[in-house]
Amino acid sequence: MVKFAAFALLALVRVAIAIPAYQSLGGLSQREVDLFIRQNPPVVIPNPPGPLVDDSIRMVNDADHPFIAPGPNDMRGPCPGLNTLASHGYLPRNGIATPGQLVDAIQEGFNLGNNFAKFLVYQGFLINGNPLTNLISIGGKSPLTGPDPPAPAIVGGLNTHGTFEGDTSMTRSDAVIGDNHNFNETLFSQFVDFSTRFGVNGTYDINAAAELRNQRIQQSMAENPEFVFVAPRILSAYSEAIFALIFFVDGRQNNRQLTMDAARDFFDLQHMPEGFNRQPAAVDFPVVDPLVTTIFNQHPLTPGVNQGAGNFIPQPQTPVLSDFCGIYEDFVTRIVKGLYPNPQGPLLDALNLNLNFFFEGIAGRGSGCTQVFPYGQPSNASTPSAPAATGSAIMPTVSVTPGSNMTESAATVMPTISATPVSGSNFTGSAVIPAASATASSNSTGSNSTTST
Ligand code: HEM
Repeated sequence: MVKFAAFALLALVRVAIAIPAYQSLGGLSQREVDLFIRQNPPVVIPNPPGPLVDDSIRMVNDADHPFIAPGPNDMRGPCPGLNTLASHGYLPRNGIATPGQLVDAIQEGFNLGNNFAKFLVYQGFLINGNPLTNLISIGGKSPLTGPDPPAPAIVGGLNTHGTFEGDTSMTRSDAVIGDNHNFNETLFSQFVDFSTRFGVNGTYDINAAAELRNQRIQQSMAENPEFVFVAPRILSAYSEAIFALIFFVDGRQNNRQLTMDAARDFFDLQHMPEGFNRQPAAVDFPVVDPLVTTIFNQHPLTPGVNQGAGNFIPQPQTPVLSDFCGIYEDFVTRIVKGLYPNPQGPLLDALNLNLNFFFEGIAGRGSGCTQVFPYGQPSNASTPSAPAATGSAIMPTVSVTPGSNMTESAATVMPTISATPVSGSNFTGSAVIPAASATASSNSTGSNSTTST
């Protein structure tokens, strides 16, 4: 009872802190955006690229895409896939890209299917990118993405903890424990160890993935007092465990068994192995989903958060891994809206457009999800079955002055959400999922990240 009361009190305090902050900051939005629009000429937000015309196997570590190690000002972040694409020039080598460039790069370089590519790209872009300039950093916050929309928007790049980036990564630390975006040699040793113990011929395969995924979760539960394992992290954590055994395996083998040499290349060195071939056909949800389900089912888990190290509180009222549409709705209504509570004018147009592009990927999965409109249904909204009609928006261009308008603020990222305890569950808290109110941690706003071994 004492524990329950303390938890409820903590939850209320967090609500009290969080909500007024959003309201007051949100009120500045229109003025600042208006000023920005007046000072900057328009930029066009194009529709996302379509599927590859030729999605057959081909060598992607080719003469046109040589590996060049990142320079001191080039952004690299928590995603070994995107880091590698930048270091081979499939993405701009400085790590600053448009969503369209990201879709192109992951399709070209690794052969992701178009729906899956749009789902990943716009998920990341909506919460870590700059809707006003149509640019995102694949690492830390950068002046090259232009002046930010007003807080509580962060536009912190992929390193921003508690947004796309989350806890229990395979080769990166949890943010409250250490560096959440650079390669971690100790964790990689564990990756090798689990591959040796559980994988065929010492490879990282589906069994190794299932055991390592579970091990990292158990470690975060035990060690990270602020461990968060609710949507959308539950989906990305299991998915990323699968990405490595699909996309990092040479398409000529395509046996879902990642050798340790290739793992070292991608995770640590951020380059493709010599003569590397991409997947032999576009890989979309139908390939990824069953593998994700397989590793989850080996160690099923209710989403939850830690209230102190070793004290994992299940949150069964939040979307579970199999509830894809619930995860989508939670993402749009809680996270996107938390960052952009009251957008107006061109900022609103850009967000609605990107939400549409995101939903195109969701709809392409064929799960029957209903589109959610956090800002009301725009009058020109189109259905994803007619993506060509989504049009493009004219947005302000940026004359970027490095350092302009770039603060390393530790703003509260996400709103707390009301949660109704499910009767019969072992949920002990009352009202709020505290850990979803992540803060942009100091190590998530660093200017640059290259690998450290
Ligand atoms: C634009 C699309 C993508 C975005 C926005 C993205 C973003 C991210 C982010 C933010 C993380 C860190 C999550 C965390 O550990 O907290 C991550 C991890 C990861 N990504 Fe990506 N990613 C994308 C595409 C890809 C692709 C195409 C691949 C594979 C070719 C890939 C492979 C991985 C892997 C294996 C991890 C796990 C790293 C680890 O746990 O140590 N990603 N990605």
